[in-house]
Amino acid sequence: MQHYQQYIEANKERFLQELFDFLRIPSVSTDPKFKADVRRAAEFLRDKLLEAGADKAQLFETAGHPIVYAEKIVDPQAPTVLVYGHYDVQPADPYELWQTPPFEPVVKKTDIHPNGAIFARGACDDKGQVYLQLKAFETMVKTHDLPCNVKFMIEGEEECGSGNLEPFLHEYKNMLKADVILISDTSIISNDTPSIECGLRGLSYLEVTVTGPKRDLHSGVYGGAVANPINVLCEMIASLKDAKGRITIPGFYDKVQELSPEERALMAQIPFDEEAYKKDLGVEALFGEEGYTTIERASIRPTLDVNGIWGGYTGEGAKTVLPSKAHAKISMRLVPDQDPDEITQLFTKHFLSIAPPYVKVEVHPHHGGKPVVTPIDSPGFQAASRAFEQAWGKKPIPTRGGGSIPIVALFEEVLGLKSVLMGFGLDSDAIHSPNEHFGLFNFYKGIETVPLFYQHFKELAK
Ligand code: BES
Ligand code: MN
Ligand code: MN
Repeated sequence: MQHYQQYIEANKERFLQELFDFLRIPSVSTDPKFKADVRRAAEFLRDKLLEAGADKAQLFETAGHPIVYAEKIVDPQAPTVLVYGHYDVQPADPYELWQTPPFEPVVKKTDIHPNGAIFARGACDDKGQVYLQLKAFETMVKTHDLPCNVKFMIEGEEECGSGNLEPFLHEYKNMLKADVILISDTSIISNDTPSIECGLRGLSYLEVTVTGPKRDLHSGVYGGAVANPINVLCEMIASLKDAKGRITIPGFYDKVQELSPEERALMAQIPFDEEAYKKDLGVEALFGEEGYTTIERASIRPTLDVNGIWGGYTGEGAKTVLPSKAHAKISMRLVPDQDPDEITQLFTKHFLSIAPPYVKVEVHPHHGGKPVVTPIDSPGFQAASRAFEQAWGKKPIPTRGGGSIPIVALFEEVLGLKSVLMGFGLDSDAIHSPNEHFGLFNFYKGIETVPLFYQHFKELAK
């Protein structure tokens, strides 16, 4: 461990400057305007993987953004770790809410990160975490102590559904042979309480359109006589949840696994400061499904949320209009054993059935993904647990995460591999929001923890 630490200490500043260079590339995958930048981010990673000591590193073209693949085989008998992550980021909008520009990284102190945090889009999700994996790899290579074979598969489309990764998994199944998948793209409870997520929620994401009259109408001439599709959409959406926060779609909960009282008791022991949580979010009170704690609501229970809603006139001033159309984007987070296709169907059937006769309703599915739970008795999880214990001085708590990484379920289905979610971010790091950041402590501690994972994995995977 000492030799790793020495190397990290001696190269600390360069590691950070390189991450800054990576963060300066606006690799927004969903917006075609950034297509060339997304590629530049992939090329940057390829070059850094080669510099770090990979035997080979290359871009694989897809119908969308390229996949970066690299490997270093030290011993065909040794176990192989496949590192997955994503180099694409969410759009930085709204730009005006950023205190410093999203693609000009800076270090600033915060209450939660008194030693400083890197502010930039992608700092935590996922460029900072991908880069700590890369620098951990470099540290092992340059100190001549890389215990396992390593493969890197870093994609550029996670934030828009990983649509081209599934065919890649099928096509390159052989090249991707490994013993475990290692992912740093999740959170820990806090910097005092390390944890490892052992589950991710699934997702069903769709868009709905409600159409009333065939053209926009004068809201005085016609108002009162013709249904307003925005009003109708709001009523329909409001009816999808009852006063107790339960989703009203018939069959929605049929396949939801209830946790045993023992499992819930364990969850209740997770240190959680509800006051600090509310303060961080600027809310006076929380709301969620009756009968469940905040942690449960945000991890082991399914959700339904409107992510965006629009229609009519939203520009400057006032325009009197009764709009023809109203739209909304709706996400449902899913838990085992809910199936995204089935939930999408249940939603569609129900939503069409509650449409009043004076509007037409369309439902368009976007992307989805299955929920996952990862075993905590596997060599991979145990290796991660020991690595945290050694580097952080505390045994990490297994938690169930609320976010989604849809491709993880496919790693299991297509490659037959379990994933270890060894994330180092904090929920308060504002991922997908303005002023996203990643603690310097988290970045460097991650670089220190990952090589220990490899050491323990080599022992445990025998
Ligand atoms: N890294 C996140 C997921 C995440 C964040 C998991 C924090 C656990 C803790 C990932 O990049 C992400 O944002 N996923 C999307 C899914 C996707 C289909 C756009 C999500 O969860 O919304
Ligand atoms: Mn991510
Ligand atoms: Mn994300």
